[in-house]
Amino acid sequence: MASSLPDTIPADFMAAIAHLETKDKLGVDEMKLMVLLETSGDPLYQKLASLAPEGEATDLLLKNGQEETAHAHRLKRAIEISTGEPFAMPELDENPYAEPPPFTELTPELLAGFVAGETNGDAAYQRWADNEPNPEIAALLRQNGREETRHGERVKRVSAILAA
Ligand SMILES: [Fe+2]
Ligand SMILES: [Fe+2]
Repeated sequence: MASSLPDTIPADFMAAIAHLETKDKLGVDEMKLMVLLETSGDPLYQKLASLAPEGEATDLLLKNGQEETAHAHRLKRAIEISTGEPFAMPELDENPYAEPPPFTELTPELLAGFVAGETNGDAAYQRWADNEPNPEIAALLRQNGREETRHGERVKRVSAILAA
């Protein structure tokens, strides 16, 4: 079975995003990199949830994290369609982006950054889908994208809860 890790592994999470944002279409190596980013999403949102007041805010953040894992599984499916071979998800301990930054507080600026990141994520997925010739893969990318916008809406709601 081919490696579950991409050949190109940018130094950190933001560098990986910058690398992918230059792409109009995802090849298999870029999809593998996207798997690493999406699987880092659950620990990242768990970290945010640990800093939020218990209740609706934590529920919303944890839900986002769970859906990032689902996004990674859609990318796994897309890789398998592309290559015709099984793809093993990388373990968290082989994922260089799995450790969340040491945030200590959910500031409005931090949450606004997440909203922007999610919105940009949707735009990137839709662009990759526009340039994807396989309709099944394009549909998987579009669904991930739509959910990124929903994640941004949930984070906005968390901001409103914190501001209240
Ligand atoms: Fe995602
Ligand atoms: Fe997201």
